[in-house]
Amino acid sequence: DGKLLTMGIESSCDETSVAIVAEGRQVLSNIIASQIEVHQVFGGVVPEIASRHHLSNINHVTNQALVQAGITMEQVDLIGVTYGPGLVGALLIGLATAKAYALAADKPLVGVHHIQGHISANYIEHLNLEPPFMALVISGGHTNIVEVTGYNECRVLGKTRDDAAGEAYDKVARVLGLGYPGGPLIDKIAKEGDPHTVEFKRVFLEKDSLDFSFSGIKTGVLNYINSEKQAGRAINTADVAASFQQAVLDVIVTKTISAAVKMKKDKIVLAGGVAANSKLRSMMEEACRRQGIALYYPSPILCTDNAAMIGCAAYYKYKSGITDDLTLDAIPNLPL
Ligand code: KG4
Ligand code: ZN
Repeated sequence: DGKLLTMGIESSCDETSVAIVAEGRQVLSNIIASQIEVHQVFGGVVPEIASRHHLSNINHVTNQALVQAGITMEQVDLIGVTYGPGLVGALLIGLATAKAYALAADKPLVGVHHIQGHISANYIEHLNLEPPFMALVISGGHTNIVEVTGYNECRVLGKTRDDAAGEAYDKVARVLGLGYPGGPLIDKIAKEGDPHTVEFKRVFLEKDSLDFSFSGIKTGVLNYINSEKQAGRAINTADVAASFQQAVLDVIVTKTISAAVKMKKDKIVLAGGVAANSKLRSMMEEACRRQGIALYYPSPILCTDNAAMIGCAAYYKYKSGITDDLTLDAIPNLPL
């Protein structure tokens, strides 16, 4: 019915995903083949294994996305694909697929920045949301405070200087013996703990800095566990998890709010895997209410890696006249 149909392709880490979105915001299909179980035994994503699984999954996932949307490749108007940042071998599988279809079916190709995709998940979830706003992009690979001034214009105001927030969750979960990926497990067990049992150091860095540092907190948790063990005291995992989470989120919420206030934004948007965290959501709700700021976040399935968000971001790039040719290459450390 004349709607522009975008095929989105995402393979930057451990999810092979292909989606079909109409007019950028209407999801007709969003197939996600997760490799979590494959990497679980290693306690983290093994890049070479991820690439191999992307390769064996991608054609099947693509066909499923078309079938579920009830369309054929000929009806697709545009192909959008993540070209960075991410694991180079993993990115290359999605890119090669996108380029092959673009060439064979003669469709325009648009490369998408993975973070731009995460932010765009909010356009799918909230049909009336428009820039400008302040975004907190928080995942296993990134922690960024981003000023979003247009669909294709943004500026990074703060970033992590070492570990990403999700990485800190995953590392602390490992120290606590909870398993992988640690974020959802800490989220769950922390609900039964007292967040004020241990006062882990809140790292705010220089005055007015919107940057983060999370690499110290894993050591903080480790030192606490060791000293308790040495003193012959039992460790309450729920209390430690809750205290860790409180320390990390105190800093994240404070900095995100101050960025919005400083840049005079009346909307804050959460994005990325850690945006699924229930404590982050409730703390942000509370802080935004106090400041009169509207808060937006996607449902959990659109927080973690998926291709619908990539299709959405590609649609807005295409609308502003941006396309790529077949020389588009994977850029593992692509800046925003
Ligand atoms: O966006 P994502 O799927 O992949 C990256 O681009 O990194 O994010 C995955 C990260 C993992 O570190 C995972 O532990 C974390 O998001 N995560 C969570 C929750 N769900 C996923 N962290 C805290 N609480 C959650 N509920
Ligand atoms: Zn991601």
